[in-house]
Amino acid sequence: MGSVTFNQSEQSHIDALRRQFSALFSAEFQRLLTGMSRASFNANSASSESATEPEVDARTEQTRRTLLLGALATTACLGCSARAHAGEDPPGSDERPQKGDLLVFSEGDQEGKPVTLADLPAGGPPVHAWPKDPKTSVVRSASRLNEILIIRLDPSELDEQTRARSVDGIIAYSAICSHAGCPVTAWVKSDVGDKEVFKCMCHNSEYDPRAGAQVVFGPAPRRLAALPIALADGSLSVAGNFIGKVGGVQPG
Ligand code: FES
Repeated sequence: MGSVTFNQSEQSHIDALRRQFSALFSAEFQRLLTGMSRASFNANSASSESATEPEVDARTEQTRRTLLLGALATTACLGCSARAHAGEDPPGSDERPQKGDLLVFSEGDQEGKPVTLADLPAGGPPVHAWPKDPKTSVVRSASRLNEILIIRLDPSELDEQTRARSVDGIIAYSAICSHAGCPVTAWVKSDVGDKEVFKCMCHNSEYDPRAGAQVVFGPAPRRLAALPIALADGSLSVAGNFIGKVGGVQPG
């Protein structure tokens, strides 16, 4: 069968969709596990009270095993396609951003290149980036929790705390939704206002980058973690650890 090739832009889009699907699947899988554990517990409790229902126990257990195996197989497959060389990740590539790390594009035509002031259009959209160790040149892309959104906004639009953390109106946040851990991929007009916001397309949570990425719509329980940044010689770097928790809450 002939193979299909994609250009860099198409491949980036496919990668983003794959990451989003993988994250959504993972969240739903966690929910499934939690639900099944409760069902199993309830069935076990009931059976201990009534010895006449062994078949219910057996069916519950069989269903649980079947679903678990199917889900694990799918998860394994997704993992393989997303990162065929997971065993080859270099040391440091899954560590959280470190002070002094450069910020490089995580997708698109410029993937791997440093993000500069000139790459950030005033008013958005955001750029997606990874931290990169300048000493070892290791890009910390082995953990999806390291993906970062960088955006440049009018400093006068930022609230006091966000402005204090910004550099020439540039601010950076974790790209991982605090709801169930999907990547935040959209920059769209808010459902509850007339300004553009970060949006997670998994369950439509919206975050306002002008106000410390606080949640303005949707089920997300807390704001995106902020990442202090510095600007030197036109390039952006990490100035400190994430402020706030990175990643989604445990579903269930
Ligand atoms: S994962 Fe649910 S809104 Fe983002």
